[in-house]
Amino acid sequence: MEMKRDCCSAVFLLFWWLSSIVGGARDVRKNIVFVICDSMDGRLIGQGPDSVVDLPNLNYMVLNGVNFRNTYTNSPICCPSRSALWSGLHTHVYGKTDYVSGDHSESNRVEAWTRNVNFTLAQEGRPTPVLVGNSSTDRIQLKDWLSTDLASKWLLHDAPKQQKPWLLYLGLNLPHPYPTPSMGENPGGSTFKTSPYWLKKVDSSKVTIPKWLPFSQMHPVDYYSSATKNCTSDFTREEIMKIREYYYGMCAETDAMLGQVLDALKASGQADSTYVFFTSDHGELAMEHRQFYKMSMYEASAHVPMVLTGPDVPAGKSLNNLTSLVDVFPTFMDIANATKPPALNGTSLLPLLKDSADRQERPDWVLSQYHGCNVNMSTYMLRTGSLKYITFGDGPNQVSSQLFDLDEDPDELHNLAKERPDLVRQLDDKLRELVDYPAVTREVQEYNRESFKAWKAKLGSRYKDEIANLRWWKDWQKDPQGNEERIEEWLNQPI
Ligand SMILES: *[C@@H]1O[C@H](CO)[C@@H](O)[C@H](O)[C@H]1NC(C)=O
Ligand SMILES: *[C@@H]1O[C@H](CO)[C@@H](O)[C@H](O)[C@H]1NC(C)=O
Ligand SMILES: *[C@@H]1O[C@H](CO)[C@@H](O)[C@H](O)[C@H]1NC(C)=O
Ligand SMILES: *[C@@H]1O[C@H](CO)[C@@H](O)[C@H](O)[C@H]1NC(C)=O
Ligand SMILES: *[C@@H]1O[C@H](CO)[C@@H](O)[C@H](O)[C@H]1NC(C)=O
Ligand SMILES: *[C@@H]1O[C@H](CO)[C@@H](O)[C@H](O)[C@H]1NC(C)=O
Ligand SMILES: *[C@@H]1O[C@H](CO)[C@@H](O)[C@H](O)[C@H]1NC(C)=O
Repeated sequence: MEMKRDCCSAVFLLFWWLSSIVGGARDVRKNIVFVICDSMDGRLIGQGPDSVVDLPNLNYMVLNGVNFRNTYTNSPICCPSRSALWSGLHTHVYGKTDYVSGDHSESNRVEAWTRNVNFTLAQEGRPTPVLVGNSSTDRIQLKDWLSTDLASKWLLHDAPKQQKPWLLYLGLNLPHPYPTPSMGENPGGSTFKTSPYWLKKVDSSKVTIPKWLPFSQMHPVDYYSSATKNCTSDFTREEIMKIREYYYGMCAETDAMLGQVLDALKASGQADSTYVFFTSDHGELAMEHRQFYKMSMYEASAHVPMVLTGPDVPAGKSLNNLTSLVDVFPTFMDIANATKPPALNGTSLLPLLKDSADRQERPDWVLSQYHGCNVNMSTYMLRTGSLKYITFGDGPNQVSSQLFDLDEDPDELHNLAKERPDLVRQLDDKLRELVDYPAVTREVQEYNRESFKAWKAKLGSRYKDEIANLRWWKDWQKDPQGNEERIEEWLNQPI
């Protein structure tokens, strides 16, 4: 999820030869270029002339390939999303895992563990738009460009020499917002940064100001998210407009990186034998629902791009079937003609490319869940048809659920849960068939408390100082003793 430089959105290249899978004979299998960016709102894809931002390379892919218009992340945060993608499974990974390999801060973890403490402290910096450079500054996210240059060079010079089919992975940090150094040592990423060069690609007349519910009508869990992301104070229209414009500028820069890779692939003469995938781990709220970042089941956060071009992929096809990131791994296995491990949750996307695909071949729902920071209850989302059902914690008896009809209410401002108890019951039953979610919630709560206790014990006498100086220090110091007491209360509560 958020920066500093995280392990998961950290940019790296992976060359994965599929060679060991099938030996002998002439290899007719195809290569794969997989470009995954971080935080792109899937609804931006395939908008054609209506698009708020010019994304010529994604448009090229959409015109020459298949746009899976209804693709969701299985968890709207970096590491869990990516583990679902690479495993084809709704993995059982709770809380934050990136301390194993990345450099996410201690704050991220402790703030996630303490989500059920009876306080709501601002953790993130207020989202800020920053304009840098001039109308010819086209390289802002330099690390991403370095990776893109490496990927392009490999495609041009090394890929043609390979004897076996290959997979090239290009992971981009953009359009993830940048760290905000004024926030102190472990800043979150709340700076939306672009240059006039990229802003020119944004049609400001098409940038919308999202409608916000009054505080009294917000779902309590949404309120917690907004408050911990420091978004509950006033924002001017101009400020929101800029945050959104700059976010779209960051998407345009991402698109240009994709373009450089597509150009290199073409120039290397391998475009006809290579599939290209483009997706993202999750989206970006960019001030919709009074929030930035992700961690939410709203469209801006949970809906991701998924575009595929390549040999025999029909051109200009747009599919409404519900798909999700767990489908990526079985699709790669399909392309590699490899035997899939038994008991995967995802389903290959390739049969959907044929007009005759049988409905029975894949589920007519997608599942997403969230157990991390900035949200104070485990969250579960089931989408089926045009309906999106979102439930929290132990289910609708504990805290109200949300139900949106995306055809009627694409902005998700009209919660139908109270009006349609019949649908809530039906969807809740379906969800419980897929996952015993109250049991998962309890497991997460236990994990959070045990992790916190272990952390506290390890720190010994340093604990008091450490906890007061996490990212929430500004709010913490308003009432250190009261906050300590609330933590004690939580540690002594039954789960
Ligand atoms: C989540 O936070 C909201 C807003 O602060 C609060 O009303 C609600 O009780 C909290 N829920 C839990 C389970 O902590
Ligand atoms: C949470 O703290 C507030 C005071 O800050 C108190 O009014 C409320 O009763 C507490 N809630 C719980 C569930 O303990
Ligand atoms: C939250 O935003 C306010 C401005 O709305 C700012 O004064 C305050 O410093 C911010 N707090 C944190 C923790 O970033
Ligand atoms: C624009 O900014 C670049 C650095 O990004 C600088 O090298 C160049 O001189 C600037 N051009 C103008 C016209 O100011
Ligand atoms: C795919 O694998 C099967 C055996 O698992 C083999 O018979 C077939 O020739 C392979 N196809 C390609 C295109 O390699
Ligand atoms: C995912 O697959 C595992 C292993 O087959 C299975 O136990 C689980 O029920 C599946 N989950 C869903 C949501 O289909
Ligand atoms: C995909 O969606 C179309 C209608 O949008 C439907 O006719 C078709 O059966 C679906 N395919 C699968 C495999 O679910």
